[in-house]
Amino acid sequence: MALNLNQPDFFQNPYPYYAHMRAAGKPFWLPQKTTGDGVWLFSRYADALTIFWEVTAVSKNIRSIRAPGASTPFDLAMLHRDAPDHLRLRRLVASYFSMQYLGQLEPHITLVTDALIRDLQGKTEVDLMADFAEQLPMRVIAHMLGVPVNDLPQIRAWSLVLADGFDSLLASDEVLLNQKSAMLALLSYVEQLIVGKRQEPADDLISFLLHAEAEGKIRRDELIGMAGLLIIAGHETTVNLIGNGLWLLLSHPEQWALLQERPELMPNAVEEILRFESPVQRTSFRIAVEPMELAGMRLEPGQQLGIIIGAANRDEAEFPDPDRFDIQRTPNRHLAFGMGLHNCIGKGLARVEARVALGRMLALCPAPHLLNEQPQWRKNSFFRGLEALPARIA
Ligand code: HEM
Repeated sequence: MALNLNQPDFFQNPYPYYAHMRAAGKPFWLPQKTTGDGVWLFSRYADALTIFWEVTAVSKNIRSIRAPGASTPFDLAMLHRDAPDHLRLRRLVASYFSMQYLGQLEPHITLVTDALIRDLQGKTEVDLMADFAEQLPMRVIAHMLGVPVNDLPQIRAWSLVLADGFDSLLASDEVLLNQKSAMLALLSYVEQLIVGKRQEPADDLISFLLHAEAEGKIRRDELIGMAGLLIIAGHETTVNLIGNGLWLLLSHPEQWALLQERPELMPNAVEEILRFESPVQRTSFRIAVEPMELAGMRLEPGQQLGIIIGAANRDEAEFPDPDRFDIQRTPNRHLAFGMGLHNCIGKGLARVEARVALGRMLALCPAPHLLNEQPQWRKNSFFRGLEALPARIA
């Protein structure tokens, strides 16, 4: 079945479309200019699990479909690699995503959050996206990698252009051209940054990777790809988790009041935000390399497949009353961070950032008043987040 998600109301509320897809029980064909001709999309929770755990019949090697000369170092990052290189690259940076490292990072995250909230309190009307949700993840990933804070506005601008290109629904030739130049600009920025770090190493992830390069554990092009991926994946997603969380909690005042009364519910609330408005709505590149039977369909080698995470996370077969936002929901085995070998390496970091951001907001700014009853969602079917979240700080 061909899928036309390019409806005016889809971006405001994709969930009725997703319900229709799950009920049909079949995969939908999404034409896609970015990689090949298109992708078969699966929307049910059970099919999502099968795909996430399939390691032999499915490959993540995006270079297999690139035209000669069209690949960039971004394609060499772990997201787009298979065994054994995938595990080599993932293991290399694992200590930066460990509980121990996150425990050391949390006081810094709290410090940055409190400073941002103090700035908000100096104003009467604010945009909780631009002034808060966007700021925290960018500053945290910059701190981890050793990226100068002054470069963040430029990085944010590249990231927004890249995100438009990810969304194959609206990817015109012009969008794709812009995406390509933003990608090249980002990668050459990263290359320059690396040269600087080689001269002046510091206590950061990029300097650590340079050391690993000297030991022959990672190649220079892989290092550039890794740093580029971490800069983008490390903020574009968590920005929306925090923004979606503020919107959901403030537009459900009874849930906000419950959290105020019982702050110990915060970890559970963050999981429900991740399920209800998943910041990453679809999986990244996957291609069948062996024949596969799935949802009554036979996929042949060379066909691309993907999961609509936003649809699987509203599947009534897994989540009772799936369209109800309930911070006390349990169990909540959502798929917002993916699953299997390529599950999100940054999930612990995203969780800490969201808990701190929402928790400090609740404590220091207990009664923000939203100025729009229904804010504008970004026109992007891949990343789900708000354009803006105007509010008055009481
Ligand atoms: C709310 C925040 C986040 C969400 C919803 C999210 C979502 C995801 C998802 C769904 C995947 C799997 C993609 C697939 O299987 O096709 C993934 C992978 C990945 N994420 Fe995240 N992510 C978040 C935050 C982060 C952060 C903070 C970082 C880094 C600092 C990060 C880095 C990565 C990387 C490197 C991968 C590839 C892992 C691999 O291939 O082994 N993510 N993420």
